[in-house]
Amino acid sequence: MAGFLGPRAIFWAFIVLTTAVIYKTYIHNFIFLTLGIGREIQPIEDFQWTCERVRHSLLEGCEDLWLDEQNRKLYAACNSLESRKGWSPGGNNYNISARSRTDHIAVMDVDQPGSDGLYGLRQLKISGYQDDLDLHGFDVRRIKGRLRFWLINHRPPVDHATGEFLDALVVGANSTVEIFDLDETLDTLEHVNTVASEAIVTPNGVAVEEDGLGFVITNDHNTKTGTFRNLEMLSGGGSLAYCRSNTGKCHIAADRGFSMANGIAHDKNGYYYVANSASGLITVHKLVNNELIQVESINTGYPMDNLWLDVDGNLIAAAFPDLIGLVRSSIDPYNSVAPATVLMINDIAKQLKTYGRNVKLSKLVEDRDAKSLPSSTVAVHDAKGHKLFLAGMFSPFITICEQRP
Ligand SMILES: *[C@@H]1O[C@H](CO)[C@@H](O)[C@H](O)[C@H]1NC(C)=O
Ligand SMILES: *[C@@H]1O[C@H](CO)[C@@H](O)[C@H](O)[C@H]1NC(C)=O
Repeated sequence: MAGFLGPRAIFWAFIVLTTAVIYKTYIHNFIFLTLGIGREIQPIEDFQWTCERVRHSLLEGCEDLWLDEQNRKLYAACNSLESRKGWSPGGNNYNISARSRTDHIAVMDVDQPGSDGLYGLRQLKISGYQDDLDLHGFDVRRIKGRLRFWLINHRPPVDHATGEFLDALVVGANSTVEIFDLDETLDTLEHVNTVASEAIVTPNGVAVEEDGLGFVITNDHNTKTGTFRNLEMLSGGGSLAYCRSNTGKCHIAADRGFSMANGIAHDKNGYYYVANSASGLITVHKLVNNELIQVESINTGYPMDNLWLDVDGNLIAAAFPDLIGLVRSSIDPYNSVAPATVLMINDIAKQLKTYGRNVKLSKLVEDRDAKSLPSSTVAVHDAKGHKLFLAGMFSPFITICEQRP
């Protein structure tokens, strides 16, 4: 054999093998996952939902949502679209002066549409925190009867000595997690503390443990800025940081196998589910000796953003069936809406035990023609109320769907 396979043949075999590996690892993903070649997108009429768009300036650019099932309220982290286009470090937008400084948490009473159809929409007031907020993902826990919020905050970088802004293109955002307690009668968020850490690099999503002490953030990239940051779309990147709310201490608890770690959800069994936007994988992690070891990896075949675990233990993912459409929509959000897909894994904890990575995936809803749903970065399933709430970082509206009997 050695005589037959001369140096030349070995060279070509090597080239073919390398190409095959690159194709399998990067190009295949790019063509089928990112571009969505050959992906079937269904019209919304195929699904048992009646959906309506709710349009208001307070409901623009809502990257993330949280549903209070008990008190029937929906909270949204929103900001004007102009501002999102200028300043969203996760999306490589670093223009500090384009910030409208109007980031806010909007709240709606989900069972009371009211005569104006705005569900009592209002904005939470902030107390005890003087600076602007620059919001992204967030999570909420009820602790001793009160709602506590963990908000990712992409603060612009500031020169310590002069107080002037630094060039964010060079140094990136000085991101933190801000913890607030909600006074529900006054609709006011009262600042509790700031968690700042080297491990909070490029935070995107946050998930809090049951006791409200431990929480995990996803870093969607390895670095805040730099030439190679964009290549992470192909080469992978990102990490998980584990933090404690009381001490404010964080450390990197996992940094292998991510590909734009984005949305994150935490369940009662101690599992963390992480959506990897660029690989279409949902990785499952468990905290062992302060490390978030990966125990499973589920291939969804879709780029994804935020995750939501409903009260029945179903995992819901806001997926992008048409990334080109999403980019178009982010450039021209008032005139162009991207198709949206909401994926669901029924009772994920139970399915993982039975089927491992071969859990069954279904579509909760899809909107090929962008008739009703926003260009969605988050979908929240209200299992009790048979509703669905969708919003998008680059959408001028949110959508509320009701399940048809
Ligand atoms: C940054 O935003 C400001 C305000 O919107 C705008 O005037 C300026 O042209 C932007 N700079 C860049 C580099 O896009
Ligand atoms: C980042 O924030 C910390 C305090 O939270 C501050 O000490 C530091 O100067 C900030 N750095 C930049 C570059 O803004």
